[in-house]
Amino acid sequence: MSEEKLSSKISGFYKLPVEERIEFVKKFAGLTEDEASLFSKSLDIETADKMIENVLGTFDLPIGVAVNFLINGRDYIIPMAIEESSVVAAASNAAKIARVKGGFKAEASEPLMIGQIQLLNIEDTEGAVKKIMDHKKEILDVANAQDKILVSLGGGAKDLEIRILDSPLGKMIVTHLIVDVRDAMGANAVNTMVEALAPIFEDLTGGKVRLKILSNLADKRLARAKAVFDKETIGGEKVVDAFLESYTLATIDPYRAATHNKGIMNGIDAVVIATGNDWRAIEAGAHAYAARNGRYTSLTKYYKNEDGDLVGEIELPLALGIVGGAGNIHPKAVLCKKILGVKTSRELAEIIASLGLAQNFAALLALSTVGIQKGHMSLHAKNIAVMAGAKGDEIDLVADKLVEEGNIKLDRAKEILEEIRNN
Ligand code: MEV
Repeated sequence: MSEEKLSSKISGFYKLPVEERIEFVKKFAGLTEDEASLFSKSLDIETADKMIENVLGTFDLPIGVAVNFLINGRDYIIPMAIEESSVVAAASNAAKIARVKGGFKAEASEPLMIGQIQLLNIEDTEGAVKKIMDHKKEILDVANAQDKILVSLGGGAKDLEIRILDSPLGKMIVTHLIVDVRDAMGANAVNTMVEALAPIFEDLTGGKVRLKILSNLADKRLARAKAVFDKETIGGEKVVDAFLESYTLATIDPYRAATHNKGIMNGIDAVVIATGNDWRAIEAGAHAYAARNGRYTSLTKYYKNEDGDLVGEIELPLALGIVGGAGNIHPKAVLCKKILGVKTSRELAEIIASLGLAQNFAALLALSTVGIQKGHMSLHAKNIAVMAGAKGDEIDLVADKLVEEGNIKLDRAKEILEEIRNN
């Protein structure tokens, strides 16, 4: 079955029983029976025991899918592992709105990572810099000798950049080794290279190498996404203006920007986790990038276009792998990558950037109109309705009544359900 032909657009997905949701995803992504059955299984203890130390068991998170995503003209359903309610629903809703004007347009730069080599105790800074640059070819050759497979795939160490930093300990020369890591996250490849280079830097300069490690401010590995949100679909010009007022605070105030970006990372982290990637690295890179100009600010940008529609853009570093690491070991991460159908780490970055933008748009739209609690309450009410035993259309009927009465309790949900069934 060709996944290209299937649309990710679906209404009322949450109303389906879990088995039918799985069936939808199975068809969409062409999963086998065995793959589809993985959703209800935990990571086995033998695998867990090989991943970290002192293992006692595993820790489960709910995994859901965001639907309706159209990115660069292709339909995606996006697996998200997260414990917070409303996030998956909000992303799906934002994606539905974005579809009206063609969905998301996204792009990612080459997968270039930075490895840092810190040199201290240098007497002649300029002379040391010259020596390093004069030996650039040999340095890159030694780095590339550490990972022949990466080089054979077209990746490897590509360049050196030198920064001279003043510190309380005197001048430091910090060399950046720029490495194309292809479809890996890249930490292992880069760390192996910079460690191998340390003695060469000491021999060349007479200085002392202290740190040799990857930088998580992966600002050469950026992903960008853009979408136009139709003004009529979101409630008209007044809503666009209210949205822009809300957004503006994040551009000028770090207190708001932190919350604004947290909302973006709600979505981004959930997919990063589902695909077995290192979400601490992604978080570190995102927030450092948000502060790159000396003041912490929004990772997204919004403005009105000539038609009065709302345009949203996001740009952030996304050091993601689709090969290697936990993403290859954890069966659910392998499954999630199959659902996404990603062929390169750049494509994964484009999807995740789009999802981050969708998440932020949904949060700001709710905050600028009804407030965030209404959505939370209605979702909470739906969860309670399901817990009370409601099925299909009963879920909304019970949930709406709970919200209307302002009494979202399991006992009351059971009573309402009985009343509905008796009628
Ligand atoms: C809650 O997890 C995220 C929000 O606070 C984000 C925001 O305020 O933009 C709703």
